[in-house]
Amino acid sequence: MTKTDFKRHTVTAALPYANGPVHIGHLAGVYIPADIYVRYLRSRGEDVAFICGSDEHGMAITMRARKEGIDPQQIVDKYHGMIKKSFDQLGVSFDIYSRTSNSVHHETAQEFFKKLYKEGKFEERVSEQYFDEEAKQFLADRYITGTCPKCNHPSAYGDQCENCGTSLNPTDLINPKSTLTGNPPVLKETKHWYLPLQNYEKWLNQWIVEGHKNDWKPNVWGQCKSWIDGGLQPRAMTRDLDWGIQVPVQGADGKVLYVWFDAPIGYISATREWAAEKGIDWEPYWKDKDTKLVHFIGKDNIVFHCIIFPAILKAHGDYILPENVPANEFLNLENDKISTSRNWAVWLHEYLQELPGKQDVLRYALCANAPETKDNDFTWKDFQARNNSELVAILGNFVNRAVVLTHKYFEGKVPERGELFDIDREVLHALGQVPKKVGDSIERYRFREALAEMMDLARIGNKYLADTEPWKLIKTDEERVKSILNIALQLVANLAIVAEPFIPFSTAKLSDFINLGQLDWSVAGSDDLLKAGHELKQPQLLFEKIEDKTIEEQIQKLENTKKQNQMENKEVEVAPLKETIVFDDFMKLDLRVGTILEAKRVEKSNKLLQFLVDTGVDKRTILSGIAKHYSPEEMIGKQVTIVANLAPRPMMGTVSEGMILMAEDAEGNLRLIQPNENVNPGSTVS
Ligand code: MF3
Ligand code: ZN
Repeated sequence: MTKTDFKRHTVTAALPYANGPVHIGHLAGVYIPADIYVRYLRSRGEDVAFICGSDEHGMAITMRARKEGIDPQQIVDKYHGMIKKSFDQLGVSFDIYSRTSNSVHHETAQEFFKKLYKEGKFEERVSEQYFDEEAKQFLADRYITGTCPKCNHPSAYGDQCENCGTSLNPTDLINPKSTLTGNPPVLKETKHWYLPLQNYEKWLNQWIVEGHKNDWKPNVWGQCKSWIDGGLQPRAMTRDLDWGIQVPVQGADGKVLYVWFDAPIGYISATREWAAEKGIDWEPYWKDKDTKLVHFIGKDNIVFHCIIFPAILKAHGDYILPENVPANEFLNLENDKISTSRNWAVWLHEYLQELPGKQDVLRYALCANAPETKDNDFTWKDFQARNNSELVAILGNFVNRAVVLTHKYFEGKVPERGELFDIDREVLHALGQVPKKVGDSIERYRFREALAEMMDLARIGNKYLADTEPWKLIKTDEERVKSILNIALQLVANLAIVAEPFIPFSTAKLSDFINLGQLDWSVAGSDDLLKAGHELKQPQLLFEKIEDKTIEEQIQKLENTKKQNQMENKEVEVAPLKETIVFDDFMKLDLRVGTILEAKRVEKSNKLLQFLVDTGVDKRTILSGIAKHYSPEEMIGKQVTIVANLAPRPMMGTVSEGMILMAEDAEGNLRLIQPNENVNPGSTVS
């Protein structure tokens, strides 16, 4: 197979903040696809630098330090070690996993800044920003909370209200407070250096909107286009913070580089560090037009990798730009957003401990479920099914049968192939196609598709054995069995190559027991990898069934998290008390128990159910927004509490003649209010 058009590849994976462990969302979105891509390139014999490291600066770190009550330095040391180790154990094959606290990085980032500064690429500006007089500190956006001007939520942040999603400036908040001291902050003048992004708009438009319309993923291209179309603003490249890289110019005491200025330069610093260790030149990896630069990131990083960092590189002038930025969407866990603060995640270091030896299962399940084109959901049940009905039943089973039968009938020696039949030729033809299909999909960043193409080879193998039934034929036609097993074993050997990027631990085992060193992609598709007479070792099981118990334990663990969150939420998240009313106000309500006679969904509404309710007085139609919580079927026959004297209200083309009472918690879960034993319809409630 021919090599790609590029001389070398620089592949980066987003530097994770060293403020917490890595979870499955990071893995599925960034690190697994990046690792598959790089392993494939290496197998193709390409020159690759696979670069990553910890992002150790910025607010993400200082806020975590404050929360854990320790120094930022202790935080980054703790999590850097933990993250590095768990990536390594999962087989994520970085050429270097560095950290942005290294001196080579501080120097590289400062040199970069100085060059742009000297060449007048920044605008210097004085502006007013919030300052905490007691803490003697300017307050970054996340250190200020206040009431949202849009929705009145009492604890919106300086950059965003998480209740209504509006993006804010700190000065938009009503009654702003410093989260450091609780004091109201004051406005104070401060000087910063801005990158005038608006000057790069035309160039970005040409490069991305016009130049990469067809080869960048639609989600990435679309986001970039909408930012560029919306007009770009100058962005400060410095911050008032006491944690980070000093701004290397006069009059910038107490100021550090903006973390999104320094962190991407971390890719370059890490490449320098790696090259120095290897004794090679780093510069071609970043400056030679024949280098293909690819950034693997999650969707929340798109603006930084497609707009801001490229503008910084462009301003510098010596650097190449990314050929592609295959950003993924987000992975959810059991139908809920992954959240560090709610501990709603599967943490890599815990997984490795609790399911030892199952790295490939996680790699496989996350690749199969990667949120490539839309957000996706990880469930433990799906994980179990991927293992039991795909890895075990298809891949493991095929490999095992082919090798075991060879041991049984031919003392573990690869038998010779005789006359070929149509079925053999079809299988060999399919075998010849698979590596290219897998490779093409990988090169187009379609990793799920690539994985499925790889698995097809094992499926073809299983079907071949099932159709030819060598275990029956052995009694009558040993020569034919020789051909069949020879062909099956060629498939097995090819699997060792094409599955390696996805499940490297298993293919290492496989390569070992078929007694071939790791073969590379250049021979993939060949039907003669295992010569007649070649001796196989005893097979090891590649995958083991995962029992229900293991899965239930993991689900239980999440249930416990949920319960704990609910308990903790109780204090903070209950709706505030309403205004006091007098007894007569209450007596105006006609509350009654009714019985649901009929129930159905309301067309074009995913919230509403329509009921016919026996109120004891009459039978009437009531609509209720509970479709997400109850099905129509389960509602029939239930007793409910209704407000019977509410004026009729038109809803979705019908009229609702009353209201069904529900209990609602802070998370919006709804439950019916019912008498604890059945009563006659029409019974009043007071
Ligand atoms: N630490 C950032 C995050 O987790 C990613 C940084 S990527 C880099 O979102 F390019 F800045 F390094
Ligand atoms: Zn709001």
